Amino acid sequence: MSTDTLTPDRIARLQDEVRALARERGAVVLAHNYQVPEVQDVADFVGDSLGLSREAAATDASAIVFCGVHFMAETAAILSPDKTVLIPDPDAGCSLAASITADQLRAWKAEHPGAVVVSYVNTTAEVKAETDYCCTSGNARAVIEAIPEDREILFCPDMFLGVWLERVTGRKLNLWLGECHVHAGIRPADIERWQAQAPDAELLVHPECGCASQCMAFANGRTHILSTEGMIRFARQSPKERFLVATETGILHRLTKEAPDKRFEAVSERAVCRYMKMITLEKLRDSLRDWKHVVTVDPQIAARARGAIERMIAIA
Ligand code: 13P
Ligand code: SF4
Repeated sequence: MSTDTLTPDRIARLQDEVRALARERGAVVLAHNYQVPEVQDVADFVGDSLGLSREAAATDASAIVFCGVHFMAETAAILSPDKTVLIPDPDAGCSLAASITADQLRAWKAEHPGAVVVSYVNTTAEVKAETDYCCTSGNARAVIEAIPEDREILFCPDMFLGVWLERVTGRKLNLWLGECHVHAGIRPADIERWQAQAPDAELLVHPECGCASQCMAFANGRTHILSTEGMIRFARQSPKERFLVATETGILHRLTKEAPDKRFEAVSERAVCRYMKMITLEKLRDSLRDWKHVVTVDPQIAARARGAIERMIAIA
């Protein structure tokens, strides 16, 4: 039976199995805000990339089942070399992480000797091993601001996050021209249409969205560029009742759960990350039952990547 045809009873049974297996195996289940609802609902912790990294570093559990994409599980494995990290589907990749290789980054660094390398967490372990600071959308601004003003910065791989960082920090960055196909696919026309239909709504925009969409965001006072967890915090605290959301649609489940009296609408229903959706409740159960798929990182690469990730976790 595929996840699409899961009945409420079957979901409940699978979730019971997951909880029992996790308890028995001493595992903690972490899930990203873009995961399908039934996976989010059974997880011990749901959050953004930064929150999940912090949780992975802090947990006492001997194993972590990471319901997210591969680079996230890899980051957890680097942070916790003594723990077993499982991912329910090892093919859950990320088109943004695939947009730069370690060889490409080494060649770029050679063109800019002495520059500080800041990499988005959406990168492979090999790219992180060539990096000085990792960041997520939740702390990218603080990471850039922590670097002395006179240092040249190479920022990779998301150009739209980079353009936004240049705008909010006033710093000139050398940008790698990568993008996330899901966020780049949210078009200015989607935002315009919604702004016309819902002029009373607050607009929540992920910084991976294309820069034209971001510009629209800067043009009015009711628009907010936020990480996924930032969107949840904002909606919870805001006195407003209606929100348009420009990011992957999986976040609507968490938003609705955390602020049930408010109304959330996706700016684009097409904004679905097929990699995030590769993790299903059945694969999560199988992962715990059959102890697969173990995520490993070459110890030498992990040792070189760890400093950049720890710097990321330390910067709020
Ligand atoms: P967040 O860190 O904001 O959760 O974003 C992760 C991601 O992959 C965005 O596409
Ligand atoms: Fe990667 Fe984009 Fe999917 Fe996020 S939404 S995991 S950046 S492909």
